[in-house]
Amino acid sequence: MRILSGTRSTGLLHLGHLINLENWKNLQDKGNECYYFVADWHALTSHIDQTKNYRKWTIEIIKSYLAVGLNPEQSCLFVQSAIKEHAELTLLFSMLSPVPRLERVPTYKDQKENIKDKDLSSAGFLIYPVLMSADILMYKPGGVPVGEDQIYHVELAREIARKFNNTFSQVFPEPEPLLSRMPKLPGTDGRKMSKSYDNFILIDTNEKELWKSLAPMKTDPARKRRTDAGDPEKCPVWDYHKAFTNDQEELDWVINGCKTAEIGCIDCKKCLFKNLKDRLEPIWEKIHYYDKHESELMDIIYSGNKRAKDFASKTMDEVRDAISIRW
Ligand code: TRP
Ligand code: SF4
Repeated sequence: MRILSGTRSTGLLHLGHLINLENWKNLQDKGNECYYFVADWHALTSHIDQTKNYRKWTIEIIKSYLAVGLNPEQSCLFVQSAIKEHAELTLLFSMLSPVPRLERVPTYKDQKENIKDKDLSSAGFLIYPVLMSADILMYKPGGVPVGEDQIYHVELAREIARKFNNTFSQVFPEPEPLLSRMPKLPGTDGRKMSKSYDNFILIDTNEKELWKSLAPMKTDPARKRRTDAGDPEKCPVWDYHKAFTNDQEELDWVINGCKTAEIGCIDCKKCLFKNLKDRLEPIWEKIHYYDKHESELMDIIYSGNKRAKDFASKTMDEVRDAISIRW
């Protein structure tokens, strides 16, 4: 199956992203034909005042893709803005997208209602999911691994595919959203992970910083004293264990130890620290490798862009033929 997914270039990647990237890697290792990109045009809708950082962030994000084990021989790694065809397809798709339909997209409504410190009145923000539909349909994927909040956008892509096929001719298969089984990782304080709360852990960190992030993590408030029993379900440290502790015995040790107060929260965090460190160390090593081999990294990005561009120009040829606008 062909797979496509992307990340916005709005900063460096954190442990929430790591879970997604590992899911992408699994899809790659199962032999799927994968296209993974950095959505820098999508970053404009929320970070238009930080465009000077996009190039740096994009490079760091692709470095993380490589560091978690995405293999550029198998997975095409590319940058959205390098493939101008995405913009052309977005324009054409916008003609098939009724404004009231776009205004009903739940993420759009939500952000319009809740985000007050940013100007979300642009046409670009309204057509965010149209651009995303173009990103997706361009590569005719069978599956699109996304988080729950992005499901509505894949649904819109399916609708646009249907409408295009009915209006012109059959060009686009309808892609399936692939939800990862891992629930969203909370921030280190138990709230939603967010830049503005400063409660996330970057993938590109080190041992010392990692412990500095884990040590003050919020725990079940019932465990005021070491002898007070707790409930892992009320503790963000447990969410991290579920994501990063593989050993069932250790998981049982946490659950039982917490509920009986046989272990302290520091013991619990030390165990998490060890597991996270083991998971991250090989990733750090590869990040450092590409820090030192920047031209190799740039070659990977440019050849990914070229491969994506070849695919995209074929799709656009079909699209232009289907619409009969071709010069
Ligand atoms: N909107 C996605 C996000 O915020 C990023 C994205 C852009 C994307 N285009 C995509 C994801 C296409 C999957 C497929 O996470
Ligand atoms: Fe959380 Fe672990 Fe402390 Fe229980 S023992 S409250 S799971 S940190």
